[in-house]
Amino acid sequence: MIKPLRKAVLPVAGLGTRFLPATKAMPKEMLPVVDKPLIQYAVDEARAAGIEQFCLVTGRGKTALVEHFDIAFELEAMLRERHKDAELKLLHEASLPPGAFVEVRQQVPLGLGHAIWCARAFIGEDPFAILLPDDLVLSQTPCLKQLADVYDQTGGCVVAVTEVPHEKTSSYGILDIASDDGKLVAVKGLVEKPRPEVAPSNLSIIGRYVMRPEVIAELARMDRGAGNEVQLTDAMARLIGRMPFHGLRYEGHRFDCGSKVGFLEAQIAFALKRPDLAPAVSAFLKNYVAA
Ligand code: G1P
Repeated sequence: MIKPLRKAVLPVAGLGTRFLPATKAMPKEMLPVVDKPLIQYAVDEARAAGIEQFCLVTGRGKTALVEHFDIAFELEAMLRERHKDAELKLLHEASLPPGAFVEVRQQVPLGLGHAIWCARAFIGEDPFAILLPDDLVLSQTPCLKQLADVYDQTGGCVVAVTEVPHEKTSSYGILDIASDDGKLVAVKGLVEKPRPEVAPSNLSIIGRYVMRPEVIAELARMDRGAGNEVQLTDAMARLIGRMPFHGLRYEGHRFDCGSKVGFLEAQIAFALKRPDLAPAVSAFLKNYVAA
C-alpha cells in the first residue's frame, strides 16, 4: 500500500547573504514576490498538493517565518472592527491551523542534507515533500501536485527536473538517466554539483522533492560531499535501486529567487499574472523599454 503524502519539510536556515542588506534583519524567505513572501508561496503550493503538516527547519534570526503562519490576533480584531473583509481573508490564508506546523532548528550550517535530517522526528516513517522556497514555479498545476501525482502511482521518490545549460551543472544536483519518455525520467544515478566535463547529463534537480523516509538513515551517516556539506543528493542516490526513483519534467516556469535576476524576473512574471496589476505593469514595461 502506498502511504499518502501529507508532510512537508521546508529548509529555511540559509543566511541569504546574496540579498544583503535586505536580509540583514529579515529572513530571505520573507522577501515578497509582488505581495506574498516566498515562504508562503511554498506553503500554498504544498497545501494545493494535499500537504497538511509542515516542518520549518530554521536557524537563528528566522522567527519572522514562524510568526507569519501564526494568527495575528490584534490585527484581525482591528480589521474586523473596520469591516476590512478582503484583508481579513488574506490574513486567514496566511495562517496554518493549530498543530499543523512545527519548527526545528538547524544549529550549524552543515548543508541541505543535514537540514533535512534535523526534521527526522517530524518525518518518522512517513513519505514527505521537500520544498526549497528559493525556487518558485509558475504553472497551471502546482509543481508539487505534479510530483505528488507521480508518487501516488509509483510510491517511490520523485524529484522535479529541468534542463540547464551545460556550463551550469556545477550549481545543481544532476541526474544520470536510465530511461526518459520526455516527461518522466527513470534515474540510475545522481551527482551533486558536478563540473560540466564529468556531469552525466544536463538534467538538474530543482527545489521540489517527494522523498521516502528511508533517506533519513542515509543522511544519518553524515558523509560529507560537494562543498564539504552533508548533501541530500548523495543520500538520495543511495536509495536508487531500492525503490522507484524518478525525475519529472514538470510543466511550468521556474524562477531562481536565490539570485537577483531570477527574483526580479519572478516579480514581473507574477505581476503579469495578476488581473489587478497586469495592465499597468505591462504598459509600464512596454513604454520603459521603448524609451
Ligand atoms: C540545492 C541542492 C541541489 C539542487 C538545488 C535546486 O542546491 O543541493 O541538488 O539542484 O538546491 O535549487 P543549493 O541551491 O542549495 O546549492
